[in-house]
Amino acid sequence: MASSRNQKGPSRPITPWRGDLDRILITEVQLARRVRQLTRQLEKDFAGRDLVIVSILSGTVIFLADLVRHLSLPLKLDFIGVSSYGAGTESGELVFTKQLRLDVRGRDVLVVDDILDTGRTLKRVVAVLRTHKPQRIKICVLLEKKARRVEKIRADYVGFQIPDLFVVGYGLDFAERHRNLPFVGVLKPEAYKSMPPGIR
Ligand code: IMP
Ligand code: MG
Repeated sequence: MASSRNQKGPSRPITPWRGDLDRILITEVQLARRVRQLTRQLEKDFAGRDLVIVSILSGTVIFLADLVRHLSLPLKLDFIGVSSYGAGTESGELVFTKQLRLDVRGRDVLVVDDILDTGRTLKRVVAVLRTHKPQRIKICVLLEKKARRVEKIRADYVGFQIPDLFVVGYGLDFAERHRNLPFVGVLKPEAYKSMPPGIR
């Protein structure tokens, strides 16, 4: 009996998501290397601090898991859920689907997000976090698209600067799909052509 495990090259089944992607933008190896660099930096900057990592659901799950498992610092982990209500409008009203649970008063908060795009999400999240009176708030994002910034907000740690392209994978989705890809890929414009303007 032929084992699919022994099949190589062209005989491997064609993965169905390939058709939606234009190309790989950031490979697994590049992601792993950069995440390691970020953890080293965070270890220096947060040594001796009382750290709470606040991760924004759901795009951060894979990045966060890789980041924290290499981070040799005592820390607490919490999540905030934010959803762009009525997606498809540029105003895209943000709705909190999960509130902060841990007490961050007087502590260092590191907000982790998947991508800093217009900046609306992080601006809003930081404003909410401030009301909980942490000692300081720092921002770490895997990706940054500088070209589309609307709000004045700066990330303290950025994995990769990327051009104005719609990307998926390593946690990032298009209509909730493709989050599980191990790399960051560029979605074919045809794949989101039907999307109403502003959803990006
Ligand atoms: P912002 O509020 O415009 O900065 O957008 C942040 C959110 O928009 C991210 O957390 C993502 O969920 C989503 N987003 C922005 N650009 C992309 C992309 O290229 N791919 C997937 N999601 C994106
Ligand atoms: Mg998203």
